[in-house]
Amino acid sequence: MAKQYQFPKDFWWGAATSGPQSEGRFHKAHRNLFDYWYDHEPGAFWAGVGPDVASNFYNDFRQDIALMKQAGLNSVRTSIQWSRLIKGLETGEPDEDGVRFYNEVIDEFLRQGIRPIMNLHHFDLPYALYEKYGGWTNKKVAVLFADFAETCFALFGDRVKEWTTFNEPMVVAEGEYLYRFHYPLQVDGKKAVQCIYNLNLASAMAIERFRQSACEKQGGRIGIVINLTPAYPRSDAAEDLAAAAFAETFKNKAFLDPAVKGVFPPKLVEILRKDGVLWESTPEELDLIQRNTVDFLGVNYYQPFRAQAQTAFDDSEGWLPEKYFAPYEMPGRRMNPYRGWEIYPQAIYDIAINIRDNYGNIPWYVSENGMGVEGEEKFRQANGMIADDYRIDFIKEHLAWLHRGIAEGSNCFGYHLWTPIDCWSWSNAYKNRYGLIALNLANQQKTLKKSAYWFRDLAAHNGFTE
Ligand code: NOJ
Repeated sequence: MAKQYQFPKDFWWGAATSGPQSEGRFHKAHRNLFDYWYDHEPGAFWAGVGPDVASNFYNDFRQDIALMKQAGLNSVRTSIQWSRLIKGLETGEPDEDGVRFYNEVIDEFLRQGIRPIMNLHHFDLPYALYEKYGGWTNKKVAVLFADFAETCFALFGDRVKEWTTFNEPMVVAEGEYLYRFHYPLQVDGKKAVQCIYNLNLASAMAIERFRQSACEKQGGRIGIVINLTPAYPRSDAAEDLAAAAFAETFKNKAFLDPAVKGVFPPKLVEILRKDGVLWESTPEELDLIQRNTVDFLGVNYYQPFRAQAQTAFDDSEGWLPEKYFAPYEMPGRRMNPYRGWEIYPQAIYDIAINIRDNYGNIPWYVSENGMGVEGEEKFRQANGMIADDYRIDFIKEHLAWLHRGIAEGSNCFGYHLWTPIDCWSWSNAYKNRYGLIALNLANQQKTLKKSAYWFRDLAAHNGFTE
């Protein structure tokens, strides 16, 4: 018997992208960390492809939004680039062309009947603030971020109803100061810990500015987008359980708890203090974080984290969270054959129940989920369409588990796929394709994949039958 998966009324069916990954650069004076890194080390990027053109949203946004409409999207998240909108990074003076551009983008989304969700930071710290202040390790940057956020609320808050402060803030700390995949490519556990704190502080400061702005009166809400990677233990042995518990605390709760509950996980604070790497904080800051929690949550989910007890911690590079856990390559886990990530749809149900039971059942949506595919051109058919049935199956499986979580009371209001149009993905550039719409890098042509037509039906029926 076919099963019908029907979703709640007014469900968001959409997709997410970001300014730095889609727009293309407009001039070299305003650079974010990735622009700078690419200018200095182009060889670190897949096929040497940098952010200069990306998918050319800066010039093609009207056509791109029309394609998104064709794919049935009723909502889209993108981001406002700090370094594009603000020309006086210290004075906060907006750039005229940046203001014009984002005004036109927002108006075009609305004209096409698509709800724009605007995010304020997607790994794109202006390089000048790294050079001068050391980036997110310095609290001064948090204040400047709140100023930038306030400018965005004043300029666009009459039309944008949903805002998010950060995308995947944990990836900023991990990429910049633990695992060397974002500039400045350092390994420094103490800096990573301070960065985690400062990002939480910056988010709360921006939320405070939001509450002081006219946005709420205009029906606005503010949230944050957190990447959750539920940690599952290798076994029931006490050591494995403890390892998974710490991984869960460090990787997920370090942002989830302050954002929703206004406090850091006590266990995290206790361990970091014992190890002498706790962040520097003041009672006033902690109070500000406590007072400024989010209205809603965006959750990016790609894959789980399998944890086992740590037996061989190498402390030659100082304190690292791996002191307390090690990754576990579970035999038989199901892998994406086109990109080496695990596929485990049930985690989306676990996330739904965790939010219901431990985070006050706060309204939330899946702000990113998706399947990266290397060499996707080989699935292009004679009629020119990429037949990405694997992506349709991937979405269905995740939606089936999400549906169950909602049926059991989790307060989820939407599902966004990463990403509408194949976009530039940091040092991986265009290696892994995620879009509903294919981008031909040679001529910038954009064509709907099979999944886009399927997604359009999904949105039109507010669900699917399987
Ligand atoms: C999450 C990030 O938000 C996005 O920037 C990235 O391109 C995708 N994951 C795919 O890795």
